[in-house]
Amino acid sequence: MALERVRVGILGAGRIADLQCLGYLEHPRAEIVAVCDADGALARERAASWRAARVYTRAEQLFADPEVDAVDILTPHHLHAEHAIAALAAGKHVSLQKPPTRTLAELDRVAAAAAASGRLLRVFENFWYYPPHRKARELVEAGAVGVPLSVRVKTAAGRADRGWKVGLSSLGWRMNRETCGGGPTTFDHGYHCYQMARCFVPADVERVHAFIHWTRIGEDAWYDGPALVSWKYAGDPPRFGSWEVIASLGMQVRSSYYVSDDRIEIHGTEGIVWVNRCTGKLLDEPALVLYREGETRAFHDLPVDWADSFRLGTRDFVDALLEGRPCFQDAADARKTLAFALAAGVSAAEGREVALAELG
Ligand SMILES: NC(=O)c1ccc[n+]([C@@H]2O[C@H](COP(=O)([O-])OP(=O)(O)OC[C@H]3O[C@@H](n4cnc5c(N)ncnc54)[C@H](O)[C@@H]3O)[C@@H](O)[C@H]2O)c1
Repeated sequence: MALERVRVGILGAGRIADLQCLGYLEHPRAEIVAVCDADGALARERAASWRAARVYTRAEQLFADPEVDAVDILTPHHLHAEHAIAALAAGKHVSLQKPPTRTLAELDRVAAAAAASGRLLRVFENFWYYPPHRKARELVEAGAVGVPLSVRVKTAAGRADRGWKVGLSSLGWRMNRETCGGGPTTFDHGYHCYQMARCFVPADVERVHAFIHWTRIGEDAWYDGPALVSWKYAGDPPRFGSWEVIASLGMQVRSSYYVSDDRIEIHGTEGIVWVNRCTGKLLDEPALVLYREGETRAFHDLPVDWADSFRLGTRDFVDALLEGRPCFQDAADARKTLAFALAAGVSAAEGREVALAELG
């Protein structure tokens, strides 16, 4: 049933909450009414700046709040399944940050809880909403490059003294496979890149091969790069894709957010689309360029702020609840991206090509 107004509880008020809150604060029919974080001082600080009346330090207190319609889950990955299942069981709609869970079995339990509750469950994947990515999808779907044959994604890490300050507590759980579910780059950040690999080619990813090198960056700190992941899409014509992670940890990446440069090339039978930026702003290139029929066209008029991908993604969730409709990304689609990410991890660990079907 559609809501008249969406009253949101934020669960986990850490680094990414800075951007996740924007779509709620700016929506005329949404408000953040409660904030829950295990760190009570942080929860109080956030609640004051978002004008949320209630503050909790335990998730079950938030789930028991009858004034909360929807919960936005922004906790570390090992807590996602437990938090999402409990929120759904308490009758809340749920927006769950990517990657939704650490394993397919966890995601299946979350999906079953959503089906039993009749509430909306959406996995929040913001690259899908980034305006240059949306425009690229629109061009590719309209046939601007002919039949898409190949997707190449490239991520370059930059020096940590630039961009956002990311606290040790925010990094710590990501470097632990138990709490993250995989590598901070090739699983956590990778979820976005695997999603992008999937959305420009209308076929499932069938097989994956990955090299992932773990670079020591501190006493007990690791970066899972350089890495090279390649994949085959199902069906005909034969189509492949690749994602390269460059461990350029001494390079300056201009960014207002994470120091990560992500770019994508979609190559078709008749043309090419390049998306030249996302989280970072490494070069002053147009965000989107199309080549076809011997001409290049640059798109200069697109919003390029990475924060807009969060605004648009959150707005879509609120509007879905107001209109009583589904919302990207549902559990079935998220399962395909998660399987892709997990297959890359298995491939690198076992030194072999992995079929996604092997993972169940
Ligand atoms: N879409 C994106 O681009 C993007 C970017 C960054 C993070 N994320 C995702 O957002 C989520 C959070 O990431 P982050 O960087 O903000 O992490 P973070 O560590 O900065 O914040 C997590 C917060 O959760 C709180 N927390 C931990 N356990 C809790 C519990 N049991 N109950 C209540 N609060 C608890 C912590 O105190 C912390 O404030 C992760 O799923 C991550 O993958 C997505």
